[in-house]
Amino acid sequence: MEDVKRLEEIEVERFSRFDRFVHWLTAVPFVYLFLSGLGMYSSKFSWLLPFLGGREFSPWLHKWAGVVFAIGVFLMFIRWAKDFMLDSDDIQWLSNVKHYIKGEEEKLPEAGKYNAGQKVFGWLVFIGGAVFLITGIVMWFPESFTPAIVRLSILLHEIAFIVVGAGFIVHVYMGTIGVPGSLSSMITGKVSALWAMAHHPKWFRQIMGR
Ligand code: HEM
Repeated sequence: MEDVKRLEEIEVERFSRFDRFVHWLTAVPFVYLFLSGLGMYSSKFSWLLPFLGGREFSPWLHKWAGVVFAIGVFLMFIRWAKDFMLDSDDIQWLSNVKHYIKGEEEKLPEAGKYNAGQKVFGWLVFIGGAVFLITGIVMWFPESFTPAIVRLSILLHEIAFIVVGAGFIVHVYMGTIGVPGSLSSMITGKVSALWAMAHHPKWFRQIMGR
């Protein structure tokens, strides 16, 4: 019991200041894009637009928030893509994901800095980010493209919105309520040693040099 308390008090660094900057540079515009996108996509959510700057201003800000989001995703890709490479343990983790959902992490291969679910979310963001950017440019300058390309871009933009949007909801849940103790990693950059041992044991051993 004493040991558990001590491990809870010891903090280990998980994300550098730059990593956190890149994360929030991506996340803040995404929240605006998600909500304004929802407001423009469906009349059921158009009530959101007055809160986001109004019906005329929000489509304008949506485009520029998209530019900032794209820069964030690009920096994230450069910084984290190598860490999100899937290995054979990750494939085993994904095929037994039911244990993770049931809270039986000990039945899964030990996670390194990121578990396989986090890595998959990372790729969803990279691929989704590229789709948003390319199709967004087409929709921003429709007169420069054929009507068929514009229609296809609208469809792909909406599909990316549904897929990445669903991933985003799961991600926010996991980063806050789902895995208590996670959020501090993206705020102060630090997590407790107990949290690291419980959720990312392979990474914890690596940073402890064991
Ligand atoms: C706005 C609410 C958000 C919250 C509360 C949040 C929270 C977090 C937390 C706590 C982590 C670190 C998890 C860990 O230490 O293992 C993290 C990581 C990450 N976040 Fe976010 N995040 C948010 C939005 C976003 C958005 C919008 C994106 C991209 C579109 C994003 C992309 C990532 C990625 C790629 C990682 C690393 C892999 C992972 O942990 O899933 N986050 N986030």
